[in-house]
Amino acid sequence: MRVCRTITEARTALEPHRDGTIGLVPTMGALHAGHLSLIDAARSECSTVVMSLFVNPAQFRNPGDLNGYPRDEPRDLAVAADAGVDLVFAPDASEMYPPGFQTWVEVTDLGAMLEGEHRPDHFRGVATVCLKLFNIVDPDVVYFGQKDAQQVAVLRQLIADLALELELRALPTVRDPDGLALSSRNVRLSAPGRELALALPRSLATRDPERARALLDGVGIDVDYVEIAPFDPPVLAAAVRVGSTRLIDNVSLEEDS
Ligand code: PAJ
Repeated sequence: MRVCRTITEARTALEPHRDGTIGLVPTMGALHAGHLSLIDAARSECSTVVMSLFVNPAQFRNPGDLNGYPRDEPRDLAVAADAGVDLVFAPDASEMYPPGFQTWVEVTDLGAMLEGEHRPDHFRGVATVCLKLFNIVDPDVVYFGQKDAQQVAVLRQLIADLALELELRALPTVRDPDGLALSSRNVRLSAPGRELALALPRSLATRDPERARALLDGVGIDVDYVEIAPFDPPVLAAAVRVGSTRLIDNVSLEEDS
């Protein structure tokens, strides 16, 4: 597995692979089975699998959240190699945002609702970094998790609006056996915090915003929102805070419950 730190290095390394299909799995590392499901899909569908590993400062508002984001690059590289990734693009922040950087992509409506209301500029950071990654890797297919349903909706809109020639595949949320959606942030939960966090998937399983809110309020969790989100398919989406850990999750409203 090749590890590239610069844009030029990545482009040069990918040149000989352009005859086949290139799949890109963007990540911020701290890899878990959710990320692996995306890598596995890319591995089975593409001849070359690229994973990006970049904790994108532009999508964090709170410096504590950015600095406290779990980072273990040696482990992530070993996991990626094991999963069959061909090339990891792991740039420094200065490679992606060199001095003087001033161009931002904003998906105005979809980026402003729900998560966007609570995390202003979050989706501007996500859209900008993803567009830059798409430009660098020039993939045929990009892989994202439905766990971040609004991220998928925002990026689908970006791809359509800017006529990008790539296909976005959204894969189902991977959960622990107790129902909690895997997230890099789960490691920050205490044992009682984790118990409390289980109210999130349980509430969403009602597939009813009022019942879900009542359930969350009943256990004393701080709710940022629990709402039906007008994505395709529509989902019941929620964001809650368990201590200092913010968790998001959603369920499709089109599946059988
Ligand atoms: P990150 O949180 O590392 O997630 C990378 C990808 O893994 C995203 O597409 C996310 O939806 C997916 N993912 C996370 N948890 C999952 C789960 N439990 N089941 C299935 N997929 C899951 O999302 C980001 O990074 C960043 O915003 C990024 C797109 C890399 C841009 O910086």
